[in-house]
Amino acid sequence: MPLSVIRKAVLPAAGLGTRFLPATKASPKEMLPLVDKPLIQYAVEEAVASGIEDIIIVTGRGKRAIEDHFDRSFELEENLKGNKKDGMLKEVRRISELANFCYVRQPEARGLGHAVLCAQHLVGDEPFAVMLGDEVIDAPIPGLAQLIKIFQEREGSVLGVKKVPSQEVSRYGIVANRRIAPGLHRVEDLIEKPDPKQAPSRYAVIGRYVLSSDIFPILRRIPPGKNGEIQLTDALRILAKTSPMYAHEMQGQRHDAGEKLGFLKATVEFALKNPALGPPFAKYLKTLNLQRHF
Ligand code: G1P
Repeated sequence: MPLSVIRKAVLPAAGLGTRFLPATKASPKEMLPLVDKPLIQYAVEEAVASGIEDIIIVTGRGKRAIEDHFDRSFELEENLKGNKKDGMLKEVRRISELANFCYVRQPEARGLGHAVLCAQHLVGDEPFAVMLGDEVIDAPIPGLAQLIKIFQEREGSVLGVKKVPSQEVSRYGIVANRRIAPGLHRVEDLIEKPDPKQAPSRYAVIGRYVLSSDIFPILRRIPPGKNGEIQLTDALRILAKTSPMYAHEMQGQRHDAGEKLGFLKATVEFALKNPALGPPFAKYLKTLNLQRHF
């Protein structure tokens, strides 16, 4: 495991999942399976591969399945042992041993900034990561590890960004940037979900952050912003005025698996890469007569 000064990652998971209704009416969207693992497990594995030891999951009502997933499951383990399913037994145990998990409740859905604030007492005054499980980053160097490297080199907060088409800027936090090296920018300002005409760039924040704990007092004092929610982006723009903040163009393939089309694309790509499922799935896809549908 790489040595890292960033030991803790906060994973907000209290959202209502409105982009994926009706599937998320009674089940957490974080538990939607991408091939054979729930979405949130991809983020946890990325964190662990980036040197994170403590995973702090911000949950809400109806999210019990997340805690159960990362816990031991004695009945299941006994069953797998009895049926000599050693490979799956190992895999099931590995999940509960990935990291130290702690959970904190966000009592009301008051926005991403408020969710992060709910983890303040568990983070303390050290720099930490925030990861949004909707965004799946498939990269040879784990997405979060890319940001941690920049944090260590530059000693400032770092946001993962990707350039998006102009018609998509209104779905993201967008940075006003000044390029300082290939793939690296100084963040001068940010706007949450701007109108394309007002967007300062096309660099969208894509759910990976390494932040100074100075963000907490700012989150505590800012008023609700876009959609009446405490926005992390609004706190970041204040932080960027007082201390250095960087935007790193993330390397690798990124999927917005929190909405239906992005989820479908991610499913196809991950299924094709799966050693057991990939070949038969590719064979099946080739038999589809797509013209028949459109
Ligand atoms: C959140 C953030 C936004 C960011 C996006 C990335 O928005 O508020 O700044 O660009 O995640 O996925 P949400 O998707 O929760 O509306």
